[in-house]
Amino acid sequence: MGTFFSEPGWLCLTVTAVLGGTIFCKLKKSQGQVGRKVVCLAGLWGGACLLRLSLFWGLILFSLSCFLVYTYFSGQELLPADQKAVLITGGDSGIGHALSKYLDELGFTVFAGVLDEKGSGAEELRRTCSKRLSVLQLDITNPQQIKDAHSKVKEKVQNGGLWAVVNNAGVLGLPTDGELIPMTEYKRCMAVNFFGAVEVTKAFLPLLRKSKGRLVNISSMAV
Ligand SMILES: NC(=O)c1ccc[n+]([C@@H]2O[C@H](COP(=O)([O-])OP(=O)(O)OC[C@H]3O[C@@H](n4cnc5c(N)ncnc54)[C@H](OP(=O)(O)O)[C@@H]3O)[C@@H](O)[C@H]2O)c1
Ligand SMILES: *[C@@H]1O[C@H](CO)[C@@H](O)[C@H](O)[C@H]1NC(C)=O
Repeated sequence: MGTFFSEPGWLCLTVTAVLGGTIFCKLKKSQGQVGRKVVCLAGLWGGACLLRLSLFWGLILFSLSCFLVYTYFSGQELLPADQKAVLITGGDSGIGHALSKYLDELGFTVFAGVLDEKGSGAEELRRTCSKRLSVLQLDITNPQQIKDAHSKVKEKVQNGGLWAVVNNAGVLGLPTDGELIPMTEYKRCMAVNFFGAVEVTKAFLPLLRKSKGRLVNISSMAV
């Protein structure tokens, strides 16, 4: 205690507080080289302080520094969403549904492909999302529906292209022993999870290329 409340103790605390405050301010604005230098400086200063302080206060200061550095480095900036169009398959429920809502909230132009455009999931997307979001009837095992969805997307994005396609639609086969699963189940799994995703990808690749977009495949070890 005595060591901590001595003059160097207070100096350490003040400087650490000032550097910590600066990091937080930098975090709010765009982070760059200056932020990194501040973190390094804070680290060096913290190290110097540790040599002077008692073990107890040294540990507290060290933990605090770790927390600050962690907060600083985990702050990721998202790319701006403006004008970017995204197609997500399997938007009726689950991850695809939640992702459609989330990206719409962030400002993306979302095309949510659904297995049943009259179903409750599709209805909810229409009800809760912005006008930018389009719900498209898209059974990924149905070539005609893929073609129709493609025409609609192309018409809407014009020359903008697609920034991302998320192959999310999928079915979880019977979670049981391989010997007990009927062949129809294997075939259904391949039809949706594999050939469906391939056909969607092939159809939308030209639009993805146009905007140098990305393809995201979601799959599962279980299928
Ligand atoms: N949840 C997890 O823990 C987990 C883990 C690993 C991987 N994944 C993968 O993540 C993806 C989404 O999973 P989830 O948990 O969100 O499951 P989910 O709620 O069942 O979502 C899949 C969606 O795809 C739809 N779908 C099924 N067949 C389709 C088809 N032929 N054409 C278009 N859409 C079709 C489903 O519609 P219906 O509901 O009407 O059938 C459902 O809305 C899947 O590819 C899954 O394998 C999930
Ligand atoms: C995603 O799936 C498509 C086919 O649907 C395939 O061509 C592509 O290589 C896959 N990408 C990754 C990273 O697995």
